Amino acid sequence: MSQAKRYTITAALPYANGPVHIGHLAGAYIPADVFARYQRLRKREVLFVCGSDEHGAAITIRAKKEGISPQQIIDKYHSLIENSFSQFGISFDIYHRTSAELHHQTSQEFFKTLHEKGVFVERESEQFFDEPHQQFLADRYITGTCPKCGHDAAYGDQCEKCGTSLSPTELINPKSTLSGEVPVLKKTKHWYLPMDQYQEWLKWWIVNEQRDSLKANVYGQCRSWLEQGLQERAMTRDLDWGVKVPLPNAEGKVLYVWLDAPIGYISATKAWALKHDKRWEDYWQKPDTELVHFIGKDNIVFHCIIFPIILKAHGKYILPKNVPANEFLNLEGNKISTSRNWAVWLHEYMQDFAGKNDVLRYVLLSIAPETKDSEFTWKDFQTRNNSELVATLGNFVNRTVVLTNKYFEGFVPPAGEFTNLENQVLSALSLQKQKIEQLIEHYKFRDALYELMEIARIGNKYLADTEPWKLFKQDPELVKTILNVALQISANLAILMQPFLPETAQKLAKMLNITGLLEWENAGKTALLKNPHQIGKEELLFSKIEDTEIEAQIAKLNASKKTNEAAHLVETAQNATLKPAKNTVTFDQFAGMDIRIATIKAAQKVPKTQKLLQITLDTGLDERTVVSGIAEFFEPESLVGKQVCFLANLAPRAIKGINSQGMILMAESPSGELHLLAPQTILPSGSVVG
Ligand code: 2FM
Ligand code: ZN
Repeated sequence: MSQAKRYTITAALPYANGPVHIGHLAGAYIPADVFARYQRLRKREVLFVCGSDEHGAAITIRAKKEGISPQQIIDKYHSLIENSFSQFGISFDIYHRTSAELHHQTSQEFFKTLHEKGVFVERESEQFFDEPHQQFLADRYITGTCPKCGHDAAYGDQCEKCGTSLSPTELINPKSTLSGEVPVLKKTKHWYLPMDQYQEWLKWWIVNEQRDSLKANVYGQCRSWLEQGLQERAMTRDLDWGVKVPLPNAEGKVLYVWLDAPIGYISATKAWALKHDKRWEDYWQKPDTELVHFIGKDNIVFHCIIFPIILKAHGKYILPKNVPANEFLNLEGNKISTSRNWAVWLHEYMQDFAGKNDVLRYVLLSIAPETKDSEFTWKDFQTRNNSELVATLGNFVNRTVVLTNKYFEGFVPPAGEFTNLENQVLSALSLQKQKIEQLIEHYKFRDALYELMEIARIGNKYLADTEPWKLFKQDPELVKTILNVALQISANLAILMQPFLPETAQKLAKMLNITGLLEWENAGKTALLKNPHQIGKEELLFSKIEDTEIEAQIAKLNASKKTNEAAHLVETAQNATLKPAKNTVTFDQFAGMDIRIATIKAAQKVPKTQKLLQITLDTGLDERTVVSGIAEFFEPESLVGKQVCFLANLAPRAIKGINSQGMILMAESPSGELHLLAPQTILPSGSVVG
């Protein structure tokens, strides 16, 4: 593998529309941080950048929801996110933001260069427009039925049920979420990136240059996009929130958020370079730089297809060397969701588990969704802490340090003759080091962490096999050798754990009094600690997490689920795309309707239909049949005995060959669910409603 001169490592810019949660951490930030820390330890030049993504509908929708301005939203969440990352120890060289002036300039210049090079196709097209609000609608502001799976709350850019990416005009029955009205199509001009023109080049690049390095999940997604055929995509939008299009006659237009966001990595680099008197170009334009993007799987198309096309079209930039995207992390059986508040929030975790940053790093790396979606549960979190960190890693180090202090006043005892066992144990150190290096360089952080823990397991087994605590009286020389070996293992652990568990590495190094020996090259050595080096006092690296703490977290999640369900109902009602009011009717027209209470005697599905039930009603006056389109919402048996309101004097009509005499009245929720209307106490069938 040829060695890059420097690494530009990016982690997806989180939307400043909510706090960071464990899904973000497991998906992008922890792996990126392990990689950056590792490369720095290997003495490679590293620039690790990130920042808040502050444009796009994600922000304006949140602002609308919280009833404050987009600027207030980004200010609020940008500081929250920045502080959480820093307190958690993600080692960004800079955490920037896309609302910064420097970013606006950088992305406008980028756009202008592409425009001057004639990269864009300028085109008028028809886009959805909300008449009452007099504005074009961002894709997210349009909902409708998904043409692929029939889900009735798909967004204009994506169906969250089946994952299909959509364009708003594909939606069946589109509606504006602003006014609830059906949007109209209106002509507008935009600048398009003709991705189809780059299809052949991109295919060549992915198949020839990326195939061996891309993870299978990432390569698979790229191939499938290429097989479907790339299409042009608008790089501008009609919105008042974002980076203004830097051209004359482009009033009211901003850059597409997925054009400006990845350029955010470049502006973050510029901001860092200005501060440190460096050349930003070295990190983006020199062929001996490796550019690596850490992201979640929903961002693959933007980083493997759209952004490389943009970089290539510009002409001066290097292309990403790798995009190690992770799949999704689920939480206690459900998809993590910011809008539904189903998440473990980083800032709350750090409050509830102060001093345990590395525990979360450890657990999230152990279950990282590297090849497929994975699952976080609080019980598993507790088990991994108690039986892996406490019982294996912590226990090994603790026994070693305690015994050294007890028998030798903390001085590293000299080693005597090694037996096969010692030779075997010590030779594992350099082997494990190599495995960890290989795995990290191939973005297999989960396996790399496993190999780190393997060292602690080897150490624990060595102590269990040799039992130095039983030998001191009869054979102190042998105990010297055993503890010398155990101390070498501990020192190796301190070095090799640095990319994964940075705070614990520092704690252990302090305990072993080796803070000056933590260089990566020292790992694998079997005589790092030499007599008469003196170690410090024992300190627990990890502590047990009790059942009560876990129960409290589960209760917190469940409580948030309940408030959330309630809030969701209110929100759905507020955002309800309510049906327009009907024309006025006269009193006589209303009085002409014979609405009564009836009792359902029997119900059955109408054969060969999905929606229809044949219902027999006791109306008090007679027994009659009504055909009702409610089969999706009720099991026929569950209806028997229920009271309903029904319109008795509706002219009979034949439905699927059945004579339907009347209509059962239903309430329809904003999301389209049907509910029976019944009196609050049982009334005689035939009672009049009016
Ligand atoms: O999906 C997201 O959260 C986006 N804000 C990621 C942007 S990554 C990059 F392009 F900036
Ligand atoms: Zn769908």
